[in-house]
Amino acid sequence: MTWRLPQASTMAGAVDTLFDFVLWTSVASFLIIVLGKLIFLVRFRRKKIPEKESLYLTGHTATELSVAVILLVWVMVIFYWGWADYKKLRSAPAGAMEINVIAKQWLWEIQYPDGRRLTNELVVPKGKPVKLIMTSQDVLHSFFVPDFRVKQDIIPNTYTSLWFEATEAGEHPVYCAEYCGAAHSGMLATVRVLEPAAFEAWQLAGFLGEAGAAEGEAASEPKSLAEKGREIFMAKGCQACHTTDGSKGLGPSQKGIFGATEALEGGGTVTVDENYIRESLMEPAKKVVKGFQPIMPTFKGQLTDEEINALIGFIKSLGGK
Ligand code: CUA
Repeated sequence: MTWRLPQASTMAGAVDTLFDFVLWTSVASFLIIVLGKLIFLVRFRRKKIPEKESLYLTGHTATELSVAVILLVWVMVIFYWGWADYKKLRSAPAGAMEINVIAKQWLWEIQYPDGRRLTNELVVPKGKPVKLIMTSQDVLHSFFVPDFRVKQDIIPNTYTSLWFEATEAGEHPVYCAEYCGAAHSGMLATVRVLEPAAFEAWQLAGFLGEAGAAEGEAASEPKSLAEKGREIFMAKGCQACHTTDGSKGLGPSQKGIFGATEALEGGGTVTVDENYIRESLMEPAKKVVKGFQPIMPTFKGQLTDEEINALIGFIKSLGGK
């Protein structure tokens, strides 16, 4: 149908089908109620000379029950269908390409694992699942790509994520869908979807860079997120307590820790993910791994979102799930 937005992701069709189901069944029930009302209005209208008295109805159990059951089934179908699709929308496939997004008043900063940074432009390959790991530097924002039928709030001091697999090459607009101040409506970006071969060429071109292209070699390779993370790890003195080879230190070794489930001092467990690492940097005493002392200093106000993303990239590079 032409009035529809392009369906440019693997989930777009499913979202539209459910939307259509809710829309058209609602239209049908609206017509049944309104037409029924009109029929009764005419049939039982007041007449000057009553031909016969209208029926006095006190209720009809079978009719009432069947209406209630039909409505319940209808709502449960919508609920289950929505839940099944929501679960698919919420869980990125394993092996999805991870890209960091930092929202700020009023632009989008995109951070690639290979170290490339873009503003208001997200370049992705067609036919490959992409997971965005997003945070905000200031207020609430929301990343919305109508063509992909995906939208996710972005919250300061925490990570939220969203995934999609683009099915159509070309440009797709991104909107901020959470009021975030004076230039909210201008907080726009573009997802540029490239054919896999073109995406590889794009990645390679980034490595050659201006200087590299001039010298004809790939000399100006940008530092990857993990390499930047390693530098910050060393510069902030993390290695004094956290080894990266699995040996014991004052704090847990970072080797293979990402994705692991750790027991905590005082009971409970935690899965080491982006949010746990971030929280541990800001409030180290909140969830201390069993067998360790709450001696880590806070890094609140000392690390930018870019640097935290790099540190997480470094920890991921040390292995894990
Ligand atoms: Cu960012 Cu609205």
